[in-house]
Amino acid sequence: MAKPTSKAAKSVKNKTGQFAIAILAAGKGTRLKSRHPKVLHEIAGKPLLAHVVAAASKVVPPQNIFAIVGYEAEQVREALAPTGINFVLQREQRGTGHAMMEARNALKNFETVLVLSGDVPLIRAKTIKRVRDFHHAHRAAMTILTAEPPDPTGYGRIFRKQVKGKASGEVERIVEQKSLRGTEAEQREINSGIYAFATKPLYTHIGKLKTDNAHHEYYLTDMVALLGKAGEKVLALRASDSIEVFGVNTRIELAELDAKLRDRKARELMLAGTTIFRPETCDIDAEVEIGPDTVIEPFVQLIGKTKVGADCRIRSYSVITNCEIGDGVLIRPGCILEDSVVRNGAQLGPYSHLRPGSDIGEGAHVGNFVETKKARLGKGSKANHLTYLGDAEIGEGVNVGAGTITCNYDGVNKHGTTIEDSAFIGSDATLVAPIRIGKGAYIGAGSCITEDVPADALALGRGRQVIKEGWASERRAKLNKASK
Ligand code: UD1
Ligand code: CA
Repeated sequence: MAKPTSKAAKSVKNKTGQFAIAILAAGKGTRLKSRHPKVLHEIAGKPLLAHVVAAASKVVPPQNIFAIVGYEAEQVREALAPTGINFVLQREQRGTGHAMMEARNALKNFETVLVLSGDVPLIRAKTIKRVRDFHHAHRAAMTILTAEPPDPTGYGRIFRKQVKGKASGEVERIVEQKSLRGTEAEQREINSGIYAFATKPLYTHIGKLKTDNAHHEYYLTDMVALLGKAGEKVLALRASDSIEVFGVNTRIELAELDAKLRDRKARELMLAGTTIFRPETCDIDAEVEIGPDTVIEPFVQLIGKTKVGADCRIRSYSVITNCEIGDGVLIRPGCILEDSVVRNGAQLGPYSHLRPGSDIGEGAHVGNFVETKKARLGKGSKANHLTYLGDAEIGEGVNVGAGTITCNYDGVNKHGTTIEDSAFIGSDATLVAPIRIGKGAYIGAGSCITEDVPADALALGRGRQVIKEGWASERRAKLNKASK
């Protein structure tokens, strides 16, 4: 038989117009017991189907990818629209075979169609290519990607043709879990639900599928026996890593694959130069980027499209969502950051809370129990303790004292606070917005500031201190007398 690298194989393979990928994604996912479509359930911060589309997109352009959708089709379409793939509607979900019948018009003009499952998310582009090349090289009608996982329960089992008492490369039939009889259940080789088909034999024979099975559905797996009877070649190709073909049918499997994917992500990052201590305790989403020599401590979560630069240290229990972190940033334990920017050399925490729209300047410090929202802190500015900064523009070299509050909300509208470069805000100041503190101005501790402060001025907004000599001892004497 020809090797995948032969000239014949290459010439077929290079005609992408001849090659489509169909992704089965119409099912409800009954076993998840969910109100939402199964393929939109997320692992590593991304819907199951988006993982499959990402792998497929590395093999063919999006116009050659067809997701077959049905249950909550509009929701699925909307979630995946940015990928540019095509959608085929399977109005009623009458089985995996029926899904391929419904896609006939979309797929019939391609020479080969590779079928992926929207609920088998760990599949890699290189494995898809391997199935395609093997299928072409052997000129098969159907090639099934198979695996031998430690526990085959739940999967369809592969029964190979016996030649002189030995299993051959050809497959005779696939038997679904519920239809296994007697010793058939001992069969360890499983169907991954990933196949390559030559479209011509597929669509010549697909009409013969029947629904005489446990689920009364059209099983795509029955194509094996149908094609075999028609004298077509059906081959099996073993996956090199069975993890890639694990499917999600229950929430237990969802959690297992989430862990596997995050493990894979952490390994990739470590190989690329990031230190991650106790990676099994960290949750790093699939699209997160981290620069070299950054250290991630245990129990850190990096979510969504977060980017972290080089030489940073992210200490334990910090949760960082959709943020851009520069180089050399120190994030101490327990910080919560969302949709914000932290520039080179800045230091946060412990327990800082950056809400959306915060921008922490180069070398700036934000300390314990400081909350920011839509607040920009200029280069080298500091807000180290117990402060709320909302809708604030803060210049460079500003010192914001402990307990400072921007009063940005009047019950109806939000107002801005501007603090110019090098200003010094004494502890426990309340700045009632809209307000502007001029360059280099001082605000006395405990002040309530309601009017703009000019540059280089001192503003005091507090009652004068009064001393009443001997007041306390007199009071104590009075109280003692009364209690006798
Ligand atoms: C299927 C295979 C099984 C294989 C397993 C691998 C069949 C009959 N069985 O079983 O041999 O071991 O995958 O994971 O194919 N779908 C549709 N339309 C439908 C029904 C399903 O698009 O009418 C989609 C689902 O959304 C899902 C995929 O097809 O993404 C597989 O369907 P599912 O019901 O999960 O099949 P399994 O029981 O896992
Ligand atoms: Ca499945």
